[in-house]
Amino acid sequence: MELITETKRDGQKREHDHPAAIGLPVAQDEEVRYTHNTYNLDSGISMVVKNVCCIGAGYVGGSSCSVLAWKCPDIHVHVVDVSHDTIKQWNSHNLPIYEPGLDEVVKECRGRNLFFSNDIDRAVREADMIFISVNTPTKTYGIGKGKAADLQYVEVCARKIAEVANGPKIVVEKSTVPIQAAQSITHILAANTKPGVSFQSITHILAANTKPGVSFQVLSNPEFLAEGTAIENLVNPDRVLIGGEESSEGESAMEELTWIYHHWIPQHNIITLSTWSSQLTKLASNAFLAQRVSSINAISAVCEAIGADVSQVADAVGRDSRIGSKFLHASVGFGGSCFEKDLLSLVYIAESLNLPEVARYWQHVNDINHYQRTSFRAAIP
Ligand SMILES: NC(=O)c1ccc[n+]([C@@H]2O[C@H](COP(=O)([O-])OP(=O)(O)OC[C@H]3O[C@@H](n4cnc5c(N)ncnc54)[C@H](O)[C@@H]3O)[C@@H](O)[C@H]2O)c1
Repeated sequence: MELITETKRDGQKREHDHPAAIGLPVAQDEEVRYTHNTYNLDSGISMVVKNVCCIGAGYVGGSSCSVLAWKCPDIHVHVVDVSHDTIKQWNSHNLPIYEPGLDEVVKECRGRNLFFSNDIDRAVREADMIFISVNTPTKTYGIGKGKAADLQYVEVCARKIAEVANGPKIVVEKSTVPIQAAQSITHILAANTKPGVSFQSITHILAANTKPGVSFQVLSNPEFLAEGTAIENLVNPDRVLIGGEESSEGESAMEELTWIYHHWIPQHNIITLSTWSSQLTKLASNAFLAQRVSSINAISAVCEAIGADVSQVADAVGRDSRIGSKFLHASVGFGGSCFEKDLLSLVYIAESLNLPEVARYWQHVNDINHYQRTSFRAAIP
């Protein structure tokens, strides 16, 4: 296998598999792809990501970090979870999820640079970069019940990181969260300030001076994979979003994550943006896709009433290149739970921002989906 030697700013050398040798498209700007700068945290400490940890070994954490380990043999990837059963399965021949291609990826990397365990404290301590990939279901209690995303698992992770971190960390939020959640993670980390742990604001930098060399940067890196095509989506994503703070430390952290993705994804498909734009893009993308399903479902009710065939209409509408044919299949429900969850989260955000018309608009996209379900049930004799 052809290897690329990369010389870092600090003079160290790393070797990478040539992307073409492992069946991947080679980016035009390959020179840039393999240039890596060391990362300067606000503590003034230079950092190079060698150890990545992922909290949450579910669909997103397990599959995305397996692909990361596969594409970045120079990075040690440790995926951890509270569930002993899940970790046992990741370490067995029967992985906890089925995705075409996943078995092969895990087989190649597990024990080499990919590890699964329940030792969260150790993984966090050893990691330079920590992905949070835990579940964020719709809240079933308290304020925002039935709409807002439940961030309790994300919060537990942030508290855990704050508790055990003993060095500079880049925390990457991969879970789908409402806008400003990265800021909450930052606040949780900040609220747990202890000697030796510093944060991105000037106040926190000053507080951290008690023990220089420890700090946090929080990035947003939402995942767009779809179940059933996860490996293909991860290997050839339409785009990767990296959101961060608009500061030199934030940009350095974004550069570091960009460098990781650059191992296999061309530069023009990696979008760096503000944290809030990144978080909103994830919700907006799922809302737009849900809206297409709701639109064709609304048309299907008209079809039924007048005796037209919705699949013919969908096909003819979808052939308009401005519209396109994807997500135009009339169906009962959205096909998966993420669309509804993210739509409701968007509705809740709009309500919280005192934008009732916007909230109603997206709520209606969801209501049409329910309407389709109830009319389908009513049609069953
Ligand atoms: N599944 C998808 O297709 C998909 C696609 C894009 C984005 N997302 C988003 O990604 C996130 C993760 O989704 P998922 O489908 O991987 O969820 P999942 O339920 O499959 O996995 C979540 C994992 O996190 C673990 N966990 C929870 N709290 C923990 C803690 N404190 N410490 C350690 N482990 C903990 C759970 O045990 C579980 O194994 C969600 O926000 C989801 O909305 C999912």
